Amino acid sequence: MNTDPIYIFRKTWGTYQKVISNNLMFHREISAAVRNIFETRPGMLNVIDLGCGDAAHIGKILKPGQVAEYCGCDLSPYALDVARINLEPFGIRVKLLCREMIAVLREAPENHFDVVYSGYALHHLPTEGKQAFFMECRRILRENGSVILVDVMREEGQARPAYLESYNGAVATQWEALTPHERDQVQEHIRNCDFPETPAELQRLAENAGLATCRRLEKRTWHEAWCYQA
Ligand SMILES: C[S@@+](CC[C@H](N)C(=O)[O-])C[C@H]1O[C@@H](n2cnc3c(N)ncnc32)[C@H](O)[C@@H]1O
Repeated sequence: MNTDPIYIFRKTWGTYQKVISNNLMFHREISAAVRNIFETRPGMLNVIDLGCGDAAHIGKILKPGQVAEYCGCDLSPYALDVARINLEPFGIRVKLLCREMIAVLREAPENHFDVVYSGYALHHLPTEGKQAFFMECRRILRENGSVILVDVMREEGQARPAYLESYNGAVATQWEALTPHERDQVQEHIRNCDFPETPAELQRLAENAGLATCRRLEKRTWHEAWCYQA
């Protein structure tokens, strides 16, 4: 059984690329919604990206002229090697850390970032880890700063076993772009690494941390984008 959260990059890099290129996790629509938010933010932004992976999407969403500082972190050195290439247009304003996101947040300076972004990574953490995430985000955000969270989320009232059954059922019947072996890899990753919350639970955790203004930016099946602000 594989319980390694970086497995998807270490062993199944090609499969995740196929998931993205066939838009199976709705990266296209979600990126468009997130891009709209960045376009409404004036000035040069300090951005931190938690679980940045290869930074392929954020690298296309952000314009180099918009970014004063970009800090990305990920557990996977393989993903960060690719991120370094994808973020070349941003030059020396990029810092990449091969570290766990809560440790990175705890060491980040107070009142420093305009945007905390996290894409399809927070669901790996237990609920207490997600609470720590929002608490630390609140501490490191500047006034008017935002948390932009892209992630899988359970439907309201849906328990984790029902989520696993329905998501893996959709993988089995709708992710025809993948081979049966690739679908097995994805289903194994979901069973072992997906601990998604409902949007209401995430909102409660954000409110506990003083991020009381919560707004959904996009929802496609279990794939959602939210913005949280003080
Ligand atoms: C599905 S990928 C998403 C990558 C990218 N953000 C995107 O949207 O395409 C999830 C990433 O989260 C990273 N990850 C998982 N748990 C993490 C943690 N606790 N701290 C830092 N990175 C983590 C994994 O290594 C992986 O690269």
